[in-house]
Amino acid sequence: MSKRKTPCIVTSEEAQRQEEIIKQLRMKNDLEKSKTGKQKHYYIATFGCQMNAHDSEKLAGMLEQIGYMKTDDEKEADFIIYNTCCVRENAEQKVYGKLGYLKHCKDNNDDLIIAMCGCMMQQETVLNTIKSKYKHVDIIFGTFNIYKLPELLQAYLETKETIIDIWEEHKDIVEDLPSIRKYKFKASVNIMYGCNNFCTYCIVPYVRGRERSREPKDILNEIKELVADGVKEIMLLGQNVNSYGKTLKEKITFAELLRRINEIEGLKRIRFMTSHPKDLSDELIMAMKDCDKVCKSLHLPFQAGSSRILEKMNRKYSKEQYLNLVNKIQEAIPGIALTTDIIVGFPGETEEDFKDTLDIVKKVRFSGAYTFIYSKRTGTPAAIMEEEVPEEVCQRRFNELQEVLQPIVAENSKEFLGKKLEILVEERSKNKDSYLTGRTDSGHLVHFEGDSSLIGQFINVDIIEAKTYYLIGKISDN
Ligand code: SAH
Ligand code: SF4
Ligand code: F3S
Repeated sequence: MSKRKTPCIVTSEEAQRQEEIIKQLRMKNDLEKSKTGKQKHYYIATFGCQMNAHDSEKLAGMLEQIGYMKTDDEKEADFIIYNTCCVRENAEQKVYGKLGYLKHCKDNNDDLIIAMCGCMMQQETVLNTIKSKYKHVDIIFGTFNIYKLPELLQAYLETKETIIDIWEEHKDIVEDLPSIRKYKFKASVNIMYGCNNFCTYCIVPYVRGRERSREPKDILNEIKELVADGVKEIMLLGQNVNSYGKTLKEKITFAELLRRINEIEGLKRIRFMTSHPKDLSDELIMAMKDCDKVCKSLHLPFQAGSSRILEKMNRKYSKEQYLNLVNKIQEAIPGIALTTDIIVGFPGETEEDFKDTLDIVKKVRFSGAYTFIYSKRTGTPAAIMEEEVPEEVCQRRFNELQEVLQPIVAENSKEFLGKKLEILVEERSKNKDSYLTGRTDSGHLVHFEGDSSLIGQFINVDIIEAKTYYLIGKISDN
């Protein structure tokens, strides 16, 4: 198989076809297992954003139906999938680094199957590099056809030849894929795919295609099923959730969708990401204020402070518009926790421009931020812009940004000291054995001493210590 254009498919028939293949593979697997007594394992590494992580949950769902069992040990796996990201160069470097290591695994185990998928695979140059330099990869597919994993695996098992299936675009959405959730009590739900914004630095619209919203009924049904299965908190996913509904026949906005989701009985918390400031409407602010299940936190990337740079980035708002929007949100929803994404070193960024970025950070006083040094992505308009900012200048600005940001985040965190907060307990703490970790409505992490039986429950904790990026609590007496 090789690269091809957007196929025309009927999605429900397609899902059924894959289901059939899953059954056939399952029978084959069960038969082999009864002969050899050996259970097959899969290992999935996710390199990208929440969107990618959610795709990995769907891949895991299909593999478990086929009869594979999850392992966290790459060496134990019979099937390894790398679900890749290409948003910045270092994300790609990580994948190439690991791919080299996989060669050893394959040398030691002839039966090992290695698959690569995700955003990186949508780029012709990456595909060519893998084909020529990493011949130990058996199956390659992209972001538009993850639901075809069963068919691709079957084709590989039958031919033992490298299978490559990358699509340019896909306007339909295949519903009802099985999915394995990391947590029983919280889940991610795609409300839309792709992106139409073409920020000039960003590769996502090229590797994830045009914006497509899911039908509200499909979203609501999925959430109802999740709630029936024990889910209390959902994260609605989209590259720009604020433009939800624009591609649908039924006139519906993101604000209206939130109101409908808020009605679902048994659901406790609704989160969403990502919001683009240009599309954040008054209607959405009102919906966030009215809907009791919508968490009082908002991720609102501003990327750069200077209006001149924002224009070059094609973000479609100015510094003043961003600050006015934040004011409006903070007035309507007092105490809302705001987080953001910031890029330093975009082509042409001067010291003056960078000061505007620092100014926004000081004015908005974010609860947290993801900060990045601009990374040139071939094929994007910014890649051919002049006045690249030298690496050492980028690094210095990046450090300066941390110096301004961190005390603000720390001060925000201190506001919680002595307060009683409700958290959803998520898991055992990674750093301290007897500790558990939970999350507040505002998205803050709280570590506290407690018993594993609390995982998945809402409890109250008293905050006794505030660190920059997390809080320490004690289970409250009442
Ligand atoms: N759709 C989301 C985010 C997608 S990518 C949004 O618009 O907010 C996540 C973050 O990666 C972006 O917000 C941006 O800050 C960062 N990013 C994207 N492309 C980048 C690049 N070429 N260099 C550095 N950071 C980048
Ligand atoms: Fe990239 Fe901009 Fe789309 Fe976000 S909105 S995915 S930053 S193009
Ligand atoms: Fe996400 Fe990276 Fe793709 S950020 S959409 S996995 S390029």
